[in-house]
Amino acid sequence: MTSRLTPENTPSIAAAAAAVEADGRRRIEAAADLAALREVERTVVGKRSELARLHTRLARLAPEERRDAGAVIHDARTRLQEQLGRRAAALDAEERARRVAEERLDLTEISTHAWLPRRGHLHLVTQTREELEDTFVAMGFAVAEGPEAETDWYNFQALNMPPAHPARGMWDTLYLRLGEPGQVLLRTHTSPVQVRLMESREPPIYAVMPGRCYRRDTPDARHTPVFHQIEGLVVDRGITFGDLAGTIEAFTGAYFGAGIHSRLRPSYFPFTEPSAEFEVTCPICAGEGCRTCSGSGWIELGGCGMVDPNVFEAVGVDAEVYSGFAFGFGIDRLAQVRAGLSDMRVLLDNDVRFLTQF
Ligand code: DAH
Repeated sequence: MTSRLTPENTPSIAAAAAAVEADGRRRIEAAADLAALREVERTVVGKRSELARLHTRLARLAPEERRDAGAVIHDARTRLQEQLGRRAAALDAEERARRVAEERLDLTEISTHAWLPRRGHLHLVTQTREELEDTFVAMGFAVAEGPEAETDWYNFQALNMPPAHPARGMWDTLYLRLGEPGQVLLRTHTSPVQVRLMESREPPIYAVMPGRCYRRDTPDARHTPVFHQIEGLVVDRGITFGDLAGTIEAFTGAYFGAGIHSRLRPSYFPFTEPSAEFEVTCPICAGEGCRTCSGSGWIELGGCGMVDPNVFEAVGVDAEVYSGFAFGFGIDRLAQVRAGLSDMRVLLDNDVRFLTQF
C-alpha cells in the first residue's frame, strides 16, 4: 500500500509530537508541588492530552507510516513519563525536607530548668488575705482565728440571734450535728470569732479575724458556698461611731491607696446597733462609674456597726464600761473586684492557667 500524502503524515506528526513534548517538559518543570504535578500529568499524558489526540490521528495513516509515527509518539510519552517520575521524586523530597525542618525536634537541646520542680505560689485569695492582715497589723490590730465548725451558740445565739430569730434566714448553712444543745454547723461568717475573743480576754481588744466561711448558697458569678471573710473588732473605753468611720476610712486609704475613700450607709445586723454597710470608691474606675460598680462609682464591701449591748451581755463584757465596733467583709469578693474577675467561681476551679496569672 502506498502512503497517502496528507498533512497528517509522519513528519508532521513527529513535529507536532516534538512541540507537545517540549510544552509538556516546561509544564512538568514548572509544577510547584505534588498536587500541581498531578494536574500537569493529566494534561500532558492523560486521556484528553495533546499526545492522546495525536495518537488518534495514527488511524488515518498508512501502516508503515503508522508504525513510525506511533513510535515517535510512544517515545515522546515515555520521556515525558520519565520526566514526570523524576519531578515527582524531586518534589516529594523537597516536601519531606520542608516538613522535617518544620517539625524538627532538637533532642540534644539541654534545658536548664525543665527538670526542676515548678515553683508554685500562694492562691490569689491567700495573697489578698495576707495583704489585708498586713494592713491591719500596721494599723495596730492583732490577728486571731477561730474554728470553721461552730456551735449554734457562737454563730447565732451569742450574736443576738436566738433560735427562730428571722435574721437567721440571711445565713442558712450546712449542719454537722442537729439537736439542742450543741448544734454544730459550718460557720456562716467570721463573727463568732468576736464572741470567742471577748469570752477569752479582757478589753481592750483590737483584732482582725480572717477565715473560711460556708453558706447554703447556689454558686453563681458572685457567690460560692465556700468563701472567706475578715472580721474586725475593737472593744475599749469610750469607743464611738466616729472611731468606726475613721478606722474604715484609714483602712481604705492604706489598703487601696490614695484617692479611694469610704462611706457608710444605714443597714441592719442583729449583732450591731446602729449598723451600717460600708462602701469604697470603685477601685476599677476610681469612682468614675463602670460595669463593676454598676455605674455608681462605689463598691459595697461589707457590714459594720457598734457592738450591740446584748452581745456584750452574752460574753460578760460590761456595756456600762466598754463600747466597741465591729466590721466584716468578704475576701474573695475583694479579690474578685481587684483582679477584675467577672465570675468568682474561677477562684475554686484550680485551673493553673488562671492561677499562675497572680
Ligand atoms: N457577719 C456579717 C455577714 O456575714 C458581716 C458583718 C456585719 C460583720 C456587721 C460585722 C458587723 O462584724 O459588725 O454578713
